[in-house]
Amino acid sequence: MIKAVIFDLDGVIISTDDCHYEAWKKLADEEGIYFDRKINDRLRGVSRMASLEIVLEKSEKVYTEKEKAELTERKNNYYREFIKKLTPNDILPGVMDNLEELKQNGIKIAIGSSSKNTPIILKQIGLDGYFDAVSDGNNITHSKPNPEVFLKASEMLKIPPENCLVVEDADAGIEAGKKGGMKTLSVHGAKGADFETEDLKKFKILSII
Ligand code: BG6
Ligand code: MG
Repeated sequence: MIKAVIFDLDGVIISTDDCHYEAWKKLADEEGIYFDRKINDRLRGVSRMASLEIVLEKSEKVYTEKEKAELTERKNNYYREFIKKLTPNDILPGVMDNLEELKQNGIKIAIGSSSKNTPIILKQIGLDGYFDAVSDGNNITHSKPNPEVFLKASEMLKIPPENCLVVEDADAGIEAGKKGGMKTLSVHGAKGADFETEDLKKFKILSII
């Protein structure tokens, strides 16, 4: 029986793909590293440092740990500039209807995101303080596909993993949810989930609970 729904943020609640792409692209161009949207797709659900390692696969230069830290900081500064433009209008279609319906039916809702920018984004889109729990990149040591971020959310909610449903747009996120012993719903084509929907526009999460 599902008592809580844990939502990934990037790509589920809001589409930040372009912001991440533009920020990584700017950094890669400055460093003379090839980067395209296909590579950007591989960064979904992956932490900032793990994402950098993927970006650096195309680099001839070998970077020190200190240089890598500088690169991720630079990328994040660019990203922060892009996400400043986000507003509640950027919340993806069908998301608010589903969140409200779940709330009204006594289902707990949480965020489970690898992003350290989660608090800033939630504020930008007017959902600061809206969720029963927020587990994000700031309270984990292992990024998806490790289940840590979702297990922390389940702990915060005091609802066991088997009573939680994870909503994800990344293969790594679906894998993380399953490893954590949770049910999974895929949006936008993420593979391997228990349930699938193209988007949340005409889909009622409550119908699979
Ligand atoms: C995930 C995104 O939600 O957060 C990834 O899907 C991103 O693309 C990761 O790399 C980390 O984000 P941030 O905001 O901490 O750099
Ligand atoms: Mg995502």
